[in-house]
Amino acid sequence: MDMKLVFQDPAGLATPMLAVFAVDVAIGKDAAPLIALLTTSDAVSNAAAAALASGEFKGTLGEQLLLHGPDGLKAERLLIVGLGNAKTLSVDCVRKGAGAAVRAAKPRGVREMAIAFLEDHALDDEHMENLPCTLLSRALVEGAAVAERDWDTYRSDRKDLSIESLTVVAREAEESTSKEIHTGFEEGQVIGEAQNFARVLVNEPGNVLTPTELGKRAAVMCAEVGLKCEVYSTEKLHELKMGAFHAVAKGSEQPPALIVMTYEPKMEKGVTAPKDAPVLGLVGKGITFDTGGISIKPAEGMEKMKYDMAGAAAMIGAMRAIAQLRPAVKVIGIVCSAENMPSGRAYKPGDVVTAMSGKTIEILNTDAEGRLVLADGLHYAKTLGCTHLIDAATLTGACVVALGMINAGLFCNDEPTFEKFLEAMRVSGEKFWRLPCTDDYKDQIKSQIADIMNTGGSRWGGAISAAMFLKEFVDETPWVHLDIAGCAWNEEVKPWQPKGPSGIAVRSIIEWVRGYAV
Ligand code: BES
Ligand code: ZN
Ligand code: ZN
Repeated sequence: MDMKLVFQDPAGLATPMLAVFAVDVAIGKDAAPLIALLTTSDAVSNAAAAALASGEFKGTLGEQLLLHGPDGLKAERLLIVGLGNAKTLSVDCVRKGAGAAVRAAKPRGVREMAIAFLEDHALDDEHMENLPCTLLSRALVEGAAVAERDWDTYRSDRKDLSIESLTVVAREAEESTSKEIHTGFEEGQVIGEAQNFARVLVNEPGNVLTPTELGKRAAVMCAEVGLKCEVYSTEKLHELKMGAFHAVAKGSEQPPALIVMTYEPKMEKGVTAPKDAPVLGLVGKGITFDTGGISIKPAEGMEKMKYDMAGAAAMIGAMRAIAQLRPAVKVIGIVCSAENMPSGRAYKPGDVVTAMSGKTIEILNTDAEGRLVLADGLHYAKTLGCTHLIDAATLTGACVVALGMINAGLFCNDEPTFEKFLEAMRVSGEKFWRLPCTDDYKDQIKSQIADIMNTGGSRWGGAISAAMFLKEFVDETPWVHLDIAGCAWNEEVKPWQPKGPSGIAVRSIIEWVRGYAV
């Protein structure tokens, strides 16, 4: 989707569809909705007046009202999109509202559309202070870009309903405001595309996206955006003594892939990075299909396990945006990709394997494979000089039981690092909920015969057992662990989203990284 930003009165813009946002400004719980359009264009307000007076449109988040041939506007259609109550208006509402506008246009065969950037005069100043222009424009663009994708590429009856071009139309404003809108507009495109890049990978079936193919796609992307990328396989795993990662990989005919993407910030000539500059390590679980291995999963629902590489996809997507946004901090992206299969060569319950760090692991369940590949990925990141680590993984069903599909799980061993991530979440609009990983839980992964075991001794607190296992391999390094099992695949259709891969964590990881830029 091509995007343009123009500064003019939206009433004068010739477009097949102009979308404008509306909020409910009624005060009091039982008051009837009172709709305010978030535009200062009188012509747009006049065109919508009669329809809004009917009371049919309540202004709830994502609600739409479509008018054809609106009076006094150059647009062929006017689409009014609700953002909910004015009191609860947030940047995330704008992200969703823009998505709803795009998804309303698609089935109508509209190929070009415009969205009016929301204007503050329609709301009181106090409220708008919490909604900085840069973030609003960025969220609008992200929401539109992400909503534009449909997951029908494998259908032969595919109706290509893509929106080819989107114009964001803002009123002429002070130079500083226009600049902010422009910055947000540019960043939003980069970040929205990165999220979509991850979603495309997650959508791919296991027979197409093998570990080798994931490596190829990462390498192509890296070449496009100017990142260094190395893709290794079995031999390198042996060389690095990655016994945990290799144990998972060896049951499959498909060779594993260890993908290392490096972003080095450009320094001015003669300037070198300070010795204590942070180096960020982004480690992703890339199981391209998880059968469970010898501890095989039940048939029902197993097809979904193609998305067991969503953590890897999030890291690859984030690296793409990082290369384009160029924050002043070094970042290394590491993906541990394998297929978890049962076979005569597969690892078995009872096996003891030695991780790259030297720790021995008793395998109790071959379906707890994600933590094994990450154990070696996290340790490897440290040997490459990473001072701060973040991992993302569709790691445990237990995390889905604990948090459902609204919040993903977050674990962290260091308060300042957690604060940085919270800050990133505020900007990204993604929801993570912190769960504990203090040493009180350490006994859960004690093994009888090895240093640790790969499942908890009981089924209680399964997401925490997995986090405790990973913690063994990060040691003192500040680290964030994101368990995205419940949030990587949207099970529900919303006005702004289809069913399918969500691209969760991409936006927060990008923002977390930017928080370390010097
Ligand atoms: N990939 C799964 C986790 C998962 C479950 C992701 C549901 C998405 C939805 C992971 O490899 C796994 O199978 N974990 C086991 C661990 C158990 C054997 C300790 C689980 O959660 O059941
Ligand atoms: Zn598993
Ligand atoms: Zn898995």
